Amino acid sequence: MAALVAGLIVVFVVMGYAVDRWSVVARARKLKNPVAATPEALSEGKQLYQQHCQRCHGANGDGHGEKAPELSVAPGDFTNTPKMSRVSDGELYWQITYGRLPMPAFRDKIDEQGRWELVDYIRTFAAAPSHADATREGGRSE
Ligand code: HEC
Repeated sequence: MAALVAGLIVVFVVMGYAVDRWSVVARARKLKNPVAATPEALSEGKQLYQQHCQRCHGANGDGHGEKAPELSVAPGDFTNTPKMSRVSDGELYWQITYGRLPMPAFRDKIDEQGRWELVDYIRTFAAAPSHADATREGGRSE
């Protein structure tokens, strides 16, 4: 009986963890980007990118930074327009905030404003989607 209870507790903890992660992602997807992609925001984003991201993600965002060959997982390719148009700004923000090994988390290294500026900046690597993209509405002046 004790073993059964212990087993159930483990199952619930694991499920709770999984559910929690999913709900964070679901909530993150819907986050509105509060930082419009103004020239100022993009230039701030670019500086942050060069300082923190370029060594893995590459100067042009294709995932071929100088450190990329040493990593166990290939960094994402931000020039892949179909892929980038499927992810929302909120999701990118969440990925930058929490990371996923070997990608480090930037929650404590870059403030919120900076992380949204990075989202705006990494969007510039992919060709702009031709249609109005639902994920990019809000917080933008265009
Ligand atoms: C140590 C190398 C490294 C650094 C530094 C790094 N990344 Fe990553 N990044 C990765 C790897 C590897 C992945 C893929 C992780 C996975 O798929 O599990 C990734 C994934 C991502 C993703 C998820 C989307 C995708 O295309 O896979 C985003 C967004 C991202 N990185 C943004 C950034 C930003 C912005 C910075 C700088 C603030 C940064 N990364 C710094 C290695 C890095």
